[in-house]
Amino acid sequence: MAQALVTMPVVAVIGAKGGVGKTTVAANLSTTLAQAGHPVLAVDLDPQNALRFHLATDRQACEVGLAAAAAGEVGWAEVLHPGRHGVVLLPFGNVDDDYQVALERHLAEHPDWLGEVLGRFLLPNGTLVVLDTPPGPSVYLQQALRIANVTVVTVLPDAGSFATLPLVERMVDKYCRGRDDFIANLCVVNQVDASHRLNRDVLAALRADWGDDLLGVVHEDQAVCEALASASDVRGYEPLSQAADDFTRCTQRLLERLAPTREGIP
Ligand SMILES: Nc1ncnc2c1ncn2[C@@H]1O[C@H](COP(=O)(O)OP(=O)(O)OP(=O)(O)O)[C@@H](O)[C@H]1O
Ligand SMILES: [Mg+2]
Repeated sequence: MAQALVTMPVVAVIGAKGGVGKTTVAANLSTTLAQAGHPVLAVDLDPQNALRFHLATDRQACEVGLAAAAAGEVGWAEVLHPGRHGVVLLPFGNVDDDYQVALERHLAEHPDWLGEVLGRFLLPNGTLVVLDTPPGPSVYLQQALRIANVTVVTVLPDAGSFATLPLVERMVDKYCRGRDDFIANLCVVNQVDASHRLNRDVLAALRADWGDDLLGVVHEDQAVCEALASASDVRGYEPLSQAADDFTRCTQRLLERLAPTREGIP
């Protein structure tokens, strides 16, 4: 299978179901990495354009994003926006529904589109790219998986979320495994509430299935919703919260998994 066209480590946050916390995880991994001193480019590949609510310092400016640049309405340099804690944010931007259909057709016909776009940016050495994706199969997910070195599957500790994992596995098998530059498919279990028996049972099953590839657990924490309501990331909103601590652990493990390639993707 073809090598990715980008030389920066790319982490794609993915999941089959909506509302499981993909954007929250993408945003908070980005800010935690940035606060640890790593240059980060966070890319919103979801037409909901929601990553800006967590990361943007000027959310209105993020109405202009990759969709407008892909249409040639603005230059690519104009859609890189400053984000929290030094993260550089490439938002999806607002998009007209007819243009969205045309863009999706273009992406389906140009499988290397995202790799080529990212390859154009002159970003500092060692920049980590974090991709937020929409739920389930889509051209955006295909684009993300084609260049991902690490995938982070986000699941809730419930039966419905658990049941969608084979679908994600099939997508990762199809687009990632077999590529020399693919490192690992990892899992974050989000919104864990240990007082719920089902949460504990599903978490135990996930630990057994994923082993070392379980990147971590993020607890159900009001600080997460409150941070979003305050247009902030969890670390910026409540640095001593359980969720901020959880994201620190996930980020440390992510860096360990990326370590052999930080000097350059093979
Ligand atoms: N650990 C958590 N504790 C409490 N609330 C959370 C947690 N993680 C996510 N949430 C809340 O769950 C909601 C959905 O999260 P988010 O938007 O990140 O999901 P998503 O998977 O990106 O959704 P979509 O599929 O629509 O893109 C948000 O209101 C978010 O604040
Ligand atoms: Mg989302």
